[in-house]
Amino acid sequence: MKTIEVNLAANGYPVYLGRGILEEGSLWRKHLGGGKILVVSNDIVAPLYLEAVRSALGKLDFDVHVIPDGEQIKTAETWCGIIDKLIGMQARRDTSIIALGGGVVGDITGFAAACYMRGVRFLQAPTTLLAQVDASVGGKTAINHVKGKNLIGAFHQPATVIIDSATLDTLPVREFNAGMAEVIKYGAIRDPRFFSWLEDNADAINERDADAVDHMICRSVQNKAEIVALDEKEAGVRALLNFGHSFGHALEAETAFSEFLHGEAVAIGMVTATILSESRGLCAAGTAQRLSALLDRFDLPIRIPPQLSIGNLAEALELDKKALVSGLRLILLNTIGKAIVDNQSTRNEIIDAMKRNAG
Ligand SMILES: NC(=O)c1ccc[n+]([C@@H]2O[C@H](COP(=O)([O-])OP(=O)(O)OC[C@H]3O[C@@H](n4cnc5c(N)ncnc54)[C@H](O)[C@@H]3O)[C@@H](O)[C@H]2O)c1
Ligand SMILES: [Zn+2]
Repeated sequence: MKTIEVNLAANGYPVYLGRGILEEGSLWRKHLGGGKILVVSNDIVAPLYLEAVRSALGKLDFDVHVIPDGEQIKTAETWCGIIDKLIGMQARRDTSIIALGGGVVGDITGFAAACYMRGVRFLQAPTTLLAQVDASVGGKTAINHVKGKNLIGAFHQPATVIIDSATLDTLPVREFNAGMAEVIKYGAIRDPRFFSWLEDNADAINERDADAVDHMICRSVQNKAEIVALDEKEAGVRALLNFGHSFGHALEAETAFSEFLHGEAVAIGMVTATILSESRGLCAAGTAQRLSALLDRFDLPIRIPPQLSIGNLAEALELDKKALVSGLRLILLNTIGKAIVDNQSTRNEIIDAMKRNAG
């Protein structure tokens, strides 16, 4: 088992990573408070992994709240259901809430933990690759509003994150590959050695070689932890994590969140941002090609589908909250392994990059 520390000024925490560690009772007991315990999961994950948590918690008494599956339930109503459950079990300030599932369960449970009695102890047990390498670390919690994704939320750091990489054995391949987009992102924005390692080990990862998968999760969490430690509330360097995301969000919005998984939209977004970086002379020709080749190893989409209107995408891009700050603020690349924040691209240059990546 590996331990990665997230070093924050006030409330740092360990991330544990290993195969089968959901069943390690000592890990859980170290981080649970003395009060009541609520496990929140969904109707896909609970039948698969609740038993492991149950055996880990052993004699400890706990309640379970199972929510339906899917991004569409990341709502105020579902959040309210968790709060109702906590009130019903007379949970007090010493309560611990465990999120067992992907990013949806983690985000909504984390937001309930952030709000209940102004904040109670929260433990993350992420079961998708995306949640393991990204969503579970860093303390962002949120629910959606009909007017937009993640519009209501809070920063609330977990007490610990327990990543059982064996849970990926049941994850659908398409979900795994979507998580790979965020893994590749860490290499692209700040870790050139990791990017090369991914190029060399793509086959092993695709074969789910346990050592390769664990190394990849570990290196991703280390990158996320370092960025979060530098910038807990996203005032600066944490923005680099949005590489590919402005274009990605525009693609998600333009396709009504039904065509692409988040990671798939981010994959196309990263390539588009790199094409823009090349045409702006910020990085060498061939960089987008190298990035595309690695994404393609994991069957990720690279190009904007031809049926989408570039004009509509440009409008969606301008509406995206991360692009509004000062003109169009985008994360671009200087090279594989070094991203920058940039607001100098003209509307025409941005549209041209999208056109060049359409088809
Ligand atoms: N808080 C953050 O910093 C942050 C960062 C990135 C994304 N997010 C959020 O995360 C969410 C996306 O997370 P996600 O990609 O994990 O999606 P998800 O939670 O919807 O999980 C994807 C699918 O896999 C299923 N699943 C989960 N674990 C499984 C397993 N081990 N075996 C089989 N099936 C399993 C889920 O039930 C779901 O159907 C979005 O709401 C996004 O906004 C948050
Ligand atoms: Zn993302």
